[in-house]
Amino acid sequence: MEKMARIFMVICALVLFCSSSAYAQMVGSPSLSPSPAPAPAPPYVNLTDLLSVAGPFHTFLNYLVSTKVIETFQHQANDTEEGITIFVPKDDAFKSLKKPSLSNLTEDQLKSLLLFHALAHYYSLADFKNLSQLSPVSTFAGGQYTLNFTDVSGTVHIGSGWTNTKVSSSVHSTDPVAVYQVDKVLLPEAIFGTDIPPTPAPAPAPDISPAADAPTASDEAGSPRASSTPSSSYRIISLGVWSQMVLAISGGLVLFL
Ligand SMILES: *[C@@H]1O[C@H](CO)[C@@H](O)[C@H](O)[C@H]1NC(C)=O
Ligand SMILES: *[C@@H]1O[C@H](CO)[C@@H](O)[C@H](O)[C@H]1NC(C)=O
Ligand SMILES: *[C@@H]1O[C@H](CO)[C@@H](O)[C@H](O)[C@H]1NC(C)=O
Ligand SMILES: *[C@@H]1O[C@H](CO)[C@@H](O)[C@H](O)[C@H]1NC(C)=O
Ligand SMILES: *[C@@H]1O[C@H](CO)[C@@H](O)[C@H](O)[C@H]1NC(C)=O
Repeated sequence: MEKMARIFMVICALVLFCSSSAYAQMVGSPSLSPSPAPAPAPPYVNLTDLLSVAGPFHTFLNYLVSTKVIETFQHQANDTEEGITIFVPKDDAFKSLKKPSLSNLTEDQLKSLLLFHALAHYYSLADFKNLSQLSPVSTFAGGQYTLNFTDVSGTVHIGSGWTNTKVSSSVHSTDPVAVYQVDKVLLPEAIFGTDIPPTPAPAPAPDISPAADAPTASDEAGSPRASSTPSSSYRIISLGVWSQMVLAISGGLVLFL
């Protein structure tokens, strides 16, 4: 009897240990939404720094720097209550962009295209559920430069007419700065016109057209991580509840013995 109880206790301890280390891992994961009460002042986010270490986002960052749009974004992040949300395509997205090329754009058009990748407000991933009801949403580029958002079971899909893509991971999401990785460069109708060549598959599920998406991009940034992000907080809660139950049971056992 006593031996059984000991074994049970050891198992409980093991379970507790494992679940708490899993918990710690999840808490440490960068794609989690921010904690509910950030008491200290929001730290200054250096966007250049952030975009040069994450990604690789070098192509996008180089465009931001050469057009000085980086200063506009940094100013918005530094000095406004609204904050900023930026959708950042990986280098692969620029490499696979062949049909409408960016090379023929004027300086102003290039600037607008970059501004088109940002919203002049901080949005957490959860906020996009509401935002999809407000589509089309104006971007930092203003005017007819709008994006449509749809929430497909927790994944944020983005449509610009020319581009249908999704948020494949969250690089940074703490008020006032949100930076989300997207699979494609967002092309505005305001620049490229409404004469959009038909896409092979605008359906949400098979939007990995093998020619357009480099294999590395879909491997690293593909569905598993993106689709697990919104549910991880639920898992933490249930884990917490579960380990408390184990604790309570083992506590009760000790009393009983
Ligand atoms: C931001 O980071 C970049 C790259 O690390 C650095 O060159 C720049 O001085 C930083 N800017 C500020 C204002 O700290
Ligand atoms: C943003 O804030 C940092 C730190 O206070 C400052 O060094 C930087 O010059 C600011 N940049 C802009 C564009 O306002
Ligand atoms: C870019 O402009 C050049 C010359 O004006 C033209 O030959 C080329 O087809 C254009 N490329 C695209 C992708 O529009
Ligand atoms: C989101 O929309 C729901 C109903 O559509 C509303 O009750 C809620 O207040 C909205 N949340 C935000 C943050 O706007
Ligand atoms: C965006 O949504 C609006 C309203 O639902 C729709 O009229 C428009 O065609 C959509 N635009 C794109 C580019 O998907």
